[in-house]
Formats: sequence, structure tokens, C-alpha cells
Amino acid sequence: MHYIRLLKSPAQSHSGKKHTLDLVFTITTDLGDSFLYPDEPIDLTIHAEISTDSGPRTKVPLSLLPGTGKLQWRSGMRVAKPSVDISGVIQQASKSKCKVAICISTEKYSARGVRDILATTVDSEEEPAGQVMPVWITLKHDGGEVEVSTRRLSLPGTTEQDSYVEFEEEIGESIARHIWDAGVLAFCAIAESCMLPTPTDTEPSGLKALKSLFTGTKPINALELGCGVGILGGGLSVVFPRTRPPPSRRCTILMTDLEEAESRTRSNMSRLLQARQEHKSNTAPPVKLLYENLDWEQGREGTFGPEAQSHRWDLVLLSDCTYNVDMLPALVGTLSALHESNTAQAGDQPQSTKVFLATKPRHASEEALFGLLSDQGWTESHRQTLPLPVLGAETQCVELYLYEKA
Ligand SMILES: C[S@@+](CC[C@H](N)C(=O)[O-])C[C@H]1O[C@@H](n2cnc3c(N)ncnc32)[C@H](O)[C@@H]1O
Repeated sequence: MHYIRLLKSPAQSHSGKKHTLDLVFTITTDLGDSFLYPDEPIDLTIHAEISTDSGPRTKVPLSLLPGTGKLQWRSGMRVAKPSVDISGVIQQASKSKCKVAICISTEKYSARGVRDILATTVDSEEEPAGQVMPVWITLKHDGGEVEVSTRRLSLPGTTEQDSYVEFEEEIGESIARHIWDAGVLAFCAIAESCMLPTPTDTEPSGLKALKSLFTGTKPINALELGCGVGILGGGLSVVFPRTRPPPSRRCTILMTDLEEAESRTRSNMSRLLQARQEHKSNTAPPVKLLYENLDWEQGREGTFGPEAQSHRWDLVLLSDCTYNVDMLPALVGTLSALHESNTAQAGDQPQSTKVFLATKPRHASEEALFGLLSDQGWTESHRQTLPLPVLGAETQCVELYLYEKA
């Protein structure tokens, strides 16, 4: 998958009644290590969305400044610097104190939501085509600098207008604090499995096992390791209430990461909470979404914060956390220490600990993970490979695993 990324805050300027927005962006893979290199130029579009907190949203296409041609991404490009006319949008927004969000997307191949992302073929020849994830920015009323951009993923069985999850990422060149392919695909696969009725004989067994856990009536406690900006745990906190029939009990999702990830994750938790309050029609029991720092170097020693140690975890989740082989012993040690803590809490009725793991294999050395898991008594109960076509490059894949330890 490729991602449209803003390299700096959009700059607003005006001369009389004419308002201009200058954008600087690139299109790269999740690691930022390769730029989109398409066989044919790809048309890009920019639009504004004008909205009030709870009112309807209006979509307004934006034009490039006259004489600046067509907005396209071609092979060999590293950056695009279009300027768009936002005069009409600013006028309309300032009259009614509205929020203005700008979206840069591709006309074709746009990864707007769960259904697009899971569809492996999008062109007429049925050749697998990769996708490009749009980027959103909410402009400040005073025209000041914006620090974050967002990703929106529409949920299955809904339209983008009324139901999506939104996560913020940092603007700039750093690849930290943004979303990654494995987390995106894992979230999409679980959301689709839980939210859409899928014939049980065609559904992969791992997702079926998760679905029965997530859509049952028992309260579920899930802990996520290395949550990043919160795409998986935060995303599931939106999916759970829509899939669990009443009178299902409250679920807890505890997202964890290193201290430096905390503020971005907490911002995303606030966004999710605000979106939940705006959808008051949803009366299903809410999910208790929590965050706590958990460094695997401490986790492997069984040193957990108050939240991590005070629950029995029905499921431990992790996505794209296994690429750094030096950290694998600490990571697997943390999983085993969580199992020990679970066993201690279960008393006379020991139950197995389940781990859902999503990874986009990047290099062969990562396979050390499976040896470490096996050495510590973890057994693989399900495995599924999701193809991940990449525009202008070889198809990659995301692997989903369910491991258990008795
Ligand atoms: C590639 S990111 C994946 C983030 C998220 N799971 C996703 O799929 O978007 C890896 C995450 O692991 C976290 N991480 C790396 N080393 C860690 C450690 N020793 N303890 C806890 N988290 C760690 C990083 O801070 C980062 O958020």
C-alpha cells in the first residue's frame, strides 16, 4: 500500500478576497523507503469538506491555481507542491463557523475504507492493483500551522459520510507515529469478519475464532502491545459495540506502547470518544478504551503497570511489532509473562492465553519469532495470508496468526 503524506503543514495565504492553500506532499510505502512509481501517471484530486460538529458535511472539489496544469503523480516523482484556490470554501466556512478539512486522494486506487482495502482487484482486467491511502488535514481558523494529518477508514456496510474511524499521524518526514500496513489490514480483516455476515464455510478459521470471541456476549478484555497510533485497538473499540448483541457486557481494550507514543495515542483516543458521542444513536454498551505504557524490556520481567496487571486478558493483540529482530526476545518474553499473569488470575480454572499477531514480512531474519514462540510453549492455531498488491511494485502480503499457550 502507498500513503499520501504531508511533508509540512499546509500554508494559507490571501490577497484581498483570494485565499490560497499551498500543499507539499509525497506518496510512499509505510516504511517511507520507496516512492510510488506507477507505470502510468496517476490523477490526484483535492477536495474540501465543510462541516459543523454534528451537522451534515459538504464536499467541495478544489481547483489548482490557473495555469498550473493537472495534478498527477508520475514515476520518478518524490514530492508534489500544488497550490489550490480555497477562496469559496473559506468564505462559506467563516460565515457559519464551520470546520474545513482538506483531502488529497487519487482518483483511482484510493484506499478509503475496509471494503476497498480488502478488495485485491480494482481494475477492469482483474489484475491485482495496489492502493493509495488518502490524507486529510483540518485547517485552523486562524490559518496557523497544523501538526497532524489524519487517515479515515470507512467501515463495512456503511458509507464514508456517516461511519468511519479516524486516526491522526504526525506531519513531516519521520516515519514514527503513523499507521502501518499490517495494522491497517488486520483491522480491516477483523472489522469485515465481525460486521458483515460471511458464510462460515468460506471464512478463514483464525478470523472465525476471533469473531466468536468478539461477537459473543461475555465481557472481553484485550491488551494490545506496541499499539502505535492505535489503529488496531482503537479501531476495534469502534467495531465491538456494533457487533456485540445486547445484553453483552462491557469490553476493555488496553493499548500499550513506549512512553514516546503515549500522547499521540491518547489524542486518537479522544478523537474516537468524540466521534462516539456524536453518534448518540448507538446504544450498544461502550468499550472501555485505555492506554498504559508497557516497554517489552520490563514486560519480559513480569513488570506491568496497574491496568495490565489487574485483568485477565482474553486476547493479546499486536501488529507490525516483529520487524526488529533484536526486540523479539523481549516481545516474546512479554507475551509469556502476560500468560503467567493470566494463569495466576485464573486460579483453579486455568485457561489458555490467545495472541493475535499481524505482520508484513520484510526480511527472513524475522522468522526467528516463530522459533522463540515455540521454545516458550506457544502453539500456532491459525494462520492466514492476505495479499497486499503494491502499485508499480511486487505484491506483498500481511500474515495473520493466532497463537495459544495453555
Ligand atoms: C511499526 S510500529 C506498529 C504500530 C502499530 N502496532 C501499527 O500496526 O500501526 C511498532 C510499534 O512498536 C513499538 N515498540 C517498539 N519497541 C518497543 C518496546 N520495547 N516496548 C514497547 N513497544 C515497542 C513502537 O513504539 C511502535 O509503536
